[in-house]
Amino acid sequence: MAQVKFHITNNDEYREAYAHSVAQPEDFWNHIAGHYNWRKPWSKTLEWNFEEPRVRWFEGGKLNITENCLDRHLEQRGNKIALIWEPNDPKEMSLRFTYRELHAHVNRMANILKNLGVKKGDRVCIYLPMIPELAFAVLACARIGAIHSVVFAGFSANSVADRINDSACEFVITSDGLNRGAKQIPVKSVVDEALETCPSVQKVLVVNRLNWPINMKTGRDVWYHNELMHANEQCAAEEMDSEDELFILYTSGSTGKPKGVVHTCGGYMVYAGYTFANVFQYRESDIFWCTADIGWVTGHSYILYGPLLNGATTMMFEGVPTFPDPGRFWQVIDKHNVNIFYTAPTAIRSLMASGVDHVLAYSLHSLRILGSVGEPINEEAWHWYHTHVGKGRCPVVDTWWQTETGGIMISALAGISELKPAHAGLPLPGIQAILVDAEGKEIIGNDVEGYLCIKYPWPSILRTTYGDHERCRINYFATYKNLYFTGDGARREANGMYRIIGRVDDVINVSGHRFGTAEIENAINQNKKVVESAVVGYPHDIKGQGIYAYVILADMQQANNHTRDEIIESVVEHIGRIAKPDVIQFVSGLPKTRSGKIMRRILRKVAEGEFSSLGDTTTLLDPLVVDEIIAGKQN
Ligand code: WT7
Repeated sequence: MAQVKFHITNNDEYREAYAHSVAQPEDFWNHIAGHYNWRKPWSKTLEWNFEEPRVRWFEGGKLNITENCLDRHLEQRGNKIALIWEPNDPKEMSLRFTYRELHAHVNRMANILKNLGVKKGDRVCIYLPMIPELAFAVLACARIGAIHSVVFAGFSANSVADRINDSACEFVITSDGLNRGAKQIPVKSVVDEALETCPSVQKVLVVNRLNWPINMKTGRDVWYHNELMHANEQCAAEEMDSEDELFILYTSGSTGKPKGVVHTCGGYMVYAGYTFANVFQYRESDIFWCTADIGWVTGHSYILYGPLLNGATTMMFEGVPTFPDPGRFWQVIDKHNVNIFYTAPTAIRSLMASGVDHVLAYSLHSLRILGSVGEPINEEAWHWYHTHVGKGRCPVVDTWWQTETGGIMISALAGISELKPAHAGLPLPGIQAILVDAEGKEIIGNDVEGYLCIKYPWPSILRTTYGDHERCRINYFATYKNLYFTGDGARREANGMYRIIGRVDDVINVSGHRFGTAEIENAINQNKKVVESAVVGYPHDIKGQGIYAYVILADMQQANNHTRDEIIESVVEHIGRIAKPDVIQFVSGLPKTRSGKIMRRILRKVAEGEFSSLGDTTTLLDPLVVDEIIAGKQN
């Protein structure tokens, strides 16, 4: 077999790499992993079974991911820009950090954390807006072997507390407040409220973003800028085992509270760097912009780790697509000469709705490659993106992956693979994707549809869900024997290309944010007027899916807009503003089977406005509730 190359440059090489990765996975990944700096080589490439599950990559290998992200570039790229920061307000100055400067910032932050008492293996919750200190904080944790748990700054105090408590974080890094378009939003006060129920937290490091007067608790809260004055810019990286935990990232499932997906140092590093280089066909002088928030896995893998592992210039944006106007993305692309742009379908659709003139006002000549992530991209949005943003000359890579997969799994390679709108395309080397039927039997051939599973481990597969390994097993490895189940349905079409249909479990994807319907129902049910609720997703022009809540009140006289507002407030308080229901319909009953199970299929159809094809309703306890729900919806 041909020698394995880290960079794939044409389709034959892709096919060779893929074939090699399936025929000899360990040999394949040995070569790819050899591209990185290891303090000590691994002794065993892979050990696995999907029963427990137990997956270990590059066992015995010693490394620190930040040496690969930063130190290894200092000699050749010390003065190259590593990170560009673009503020919320275009009138404020953007910042640029060379690899040398980023290295120093990370080391200073690492020393500050050490001074506060953070040690290897400690969990650090990072609740920060998109400011440079967020990047420093993540990398500083990795530098000293602390496990970062970044929580998106749009989550409420309750959500922050749940996440801190689930992994017993000892430290929190936060800011006074944040900018979001024309608004300024408090952050520290959210942490203060959360910490009332978080006994594990010892210290809180606070970054000053807005110069806001905030409450600082003596003995617990420390200003970052004060600590910075005596922080050394040298900090030796902690030697980590390949399988030591690198980070926890909470994500929603179909049942219960969000779970902490755990990724480990070696495998995650190998896969994040490899996929970044190949999917985006990154070239040395490129400027790469991923518009995600670092609070989500996309930001972890493709704002920070993936680009930095490749010595790239990566951009971080504090703002929103529509402030000060819907041309902001395009203005930023021209301002910084962005070459590769990676965003979500929901952003594309919302900018599409504001009219093409905002795009046409900018040249966008620097763009070479476009990417999409987070949810299925509809053909209309794909074409708009390709035509108006990419001017017909930039390939659009539709990248399918998940928090649990750590990196991109199914995607075209930019400029190399065949493109088909709304199709993610072929699996990347190392990814043995299959479709199965409801019994778990593999579906062979093309032009077929089924449940998307992966039958062999890849280096950045999740290792566990924090503190509850059994939950990891049940969620991902118990549905189908010896397979990782993604929760997505997909079609495989001509030439083996995949088209992702969407979740087949009770997870909904709202503007690329993932929620369990049960999680939203729990939040709604906190309102004392509510007896029961059922939440489903429905097609939404901009968000992809909207949140539709059916709610039963103790007193149906209270079925009014005031109660609606209270219910929305409950959701904002228990989850965060990103999970606000779009529609609340008051009903006197829910369609249930005789065994008491809510028939969500019917609720989904009604929410979609499809009343004619409700299927069999004869097994319902009370078929009349369906008529009432339809009548209520039509009003
Ligand atoms: C779910 C994972 C890691 C990306 C950010 C979201 C959906 C993601 C695509 C895509 C169709 C997609 C899936 C997946 N999804 N990318 N390109 N096409 N669907 O990560 O929050 O873990 O959500 O997002 O349904 O299971 P996440």
